[in-house]
Amino acid sequence: MFANSRSIATRQVGPHPRLKEIVARHLREPYRRAPSAAGRHAFDSIAARLAAAPFVLDAGCGTGASTLALAREFPDSLVLGVDKSITRLGVSQRAFEHRARAGAAPDNMHLLHCELVDFWQLAAEAKLRCTYQFLLYPNPWPKPEHMMRRWHAHPVLPAVLALGGAIELRTNWRIYAEEFAQTMAWVGRKAPLEQMPLTQPLTPFERKYAASGHALWRCIAQSPGR
Ligand SMILES: C[S@@+](CC[C@H](N)C(=O)[O-])C[C@H]1O[C@@H](n2cnc3c(N)ncnc32)[C@H](O)[C@@H]1O
Repeated sequence: MFANSRSIATRQVGPHPRLKEIVARHLREPYRRAPSAAGRHAFDSIAARLAAAPFVLDAGCGTGASTLALAREFPDSLVLGVDKSITRLGVSQRAFEHRARAGAAPDNMHLLHCELVDFWQLAAEAKLRCTYQFLLYPNPWPKPEHMMRRWHAHPVLPAVLALGGAIELRTNWRIYAEEFAQTMAWVGRKAPLEQMPLTQPLTPFERKYAASGHALWRCIAQSPGR
């Protein structure tokens, strides 16, 4: 990883002016997209384990470095890393097999090749509940016209909320974090925005952004009622 990552370039000067209206629409109107067959197949391969025990979701886990760290942090939970990039997951799979040969792979982590929109839709359909969701450096989609691709403004938002648990967002784009915090407040979850002191990077992107001198932002939306 290089320490030369560019800051986010965007025409937005603050949270998107249509955010509230878009979020309200997603909360009001059901999302009619049908999950893909591949997504269903991937989800079915792990659904029984997810229903049987508390689990933690690492959404967009990339190479899975964070999934491994989280598996150590939550030894009593299954930690599930989900990503649509088979290339990135391949890196983690090889590292995992290497650790397994050395007897050092935690048995409470699992990596799943799956489109996250499929995953969240199918998890909502199956009424699954998790204890914690991590959204670590999601793709920012900084063009205003792409706002609905950001997770808090995506039509899958109700399914993300239905999965439950605390939701932790980390990003190097302050506006993404502000929008996320606002959205969580509208759905009744406290999600204070904080600038993160960087001690031990949890993910490769976190390491790269920190090394490039970017400010890192974090919002933890507590479970409803907390
Ligand atoms: C900027 S990278 C961050 C990766 C990792 N969390 C980190 O911090 O190093 C975003 C990751 O999200 C994944 N991703 C983006 N959209 C996705 C989607 N719709 N479904 C599944 N994975 C997705 C990408 O493949 C990529 O690995």
